[in-house]
Amino acid sequence: MPYRVGVPGIDDRAHHRTAGVASTCRPSIYDCRQPPVALSTFVDAHLSRIRDARVMDAGAGAGPYVPVVAARAAELVAVDLATIRLSQIDATEAHQVCGDVQALPFRNGSFDVVMAMHMLYHVPDIAAAAREFRRVLRDGGVLYALTNSTSAQAEFAELIRRNGCDPSAGGDFGALRFSNENGVELLRAGFDHISVVELGPSRLVVTDPEQLVDEVERNRYLLEPGLRPGVAWRAFVHDVRVDAGRLIARDGDFRIGERHGLFTCW
Ligand SMILES: C[S@@+](CC[C@H](N)C(=O)[O-])C[C@H]1O[C@@H](n2cnc3c(N)ncnc32)[C@H](O)[C@@H]1O
Repeated sequence: MPYRVGVPGIDDRAHHRTAGVASTCRPSIYDCRQPPVALSTFVDAHLSRIRDARVMDAGAGAGPYVPVVAARAAELVAVDLATIRLSQIDATEAHQVCGDVQALPFRNGSFDVVMAMHMLYHVPDIAAAAREFRRVLRDGGVLYALTNSTSAQAEFAELIRRNGCDPSAGGDFGALRFSNENGVELLRAGFDHISVVELGPSRLVVTDPEQLVDEVERNRYLLEPGLRPGVAWRAFVHDVRVDAGRLIARDGDFRIGERHGLFTCW
């Protein structure tokens, strides 16, 4: 029987400013990946332990992995801070729990596998999340964590910089907080065994400037402290929108390079 658990007091409008939580249902820039990733191929090749397992998809968002994982796992629980995104998940495929990975509402040893796909860099205390993932995994259970290289997304960082914001001034924009390069050190808070595999390069080919604006808004909590003196948030967002629109009108799209890394921890 699927369950759905909300946390009283969690408000998407308040949280999208503080935790990378989306406030719109528009497709994100990550839906524009090329070559497109066949998630079933990726899951079978890299997340083999989910088969017949009790799995948590932590920071599941709108659940891009849910159909593929639900078809293979014994049970799937999708966890996210944002109810607006969780509500897009098919309740017949996954339980939905609104919660924070820094303090998970589950007993010790509840899961065989935890997936944390492109989410740990949004979490304020990454070491606390790693300890929580370890706690809710059974002995021998495994964490899969997907992220990006610090050298990725340089084009997006440049768009931000050019329009009045130092993307790293507010404390490590994007993958810089949890990256292929620093992830082992951060995950050591919870795990003794950690391996990382760098996956082939890919790129985001964005044709709608509003998707870039959405991504900027989603990262407001990281970017706003990096605004140049005298630049207001609204003016910065306006300038990003105009600049992105101009580039897309000129080139047909805006391309952002990626280099993903997958951590496996036990
Ligand atoms: C970039 S999205 C990734 C979504 C999905 N895993 C994917 O790979 O497409 C990051 C997600 O993490 C969620 N998130 C951020 N901080 C969180 C926290 N402390 N606890 C739970 N979820 C969190 C956000 O709401 C957002 O849905």
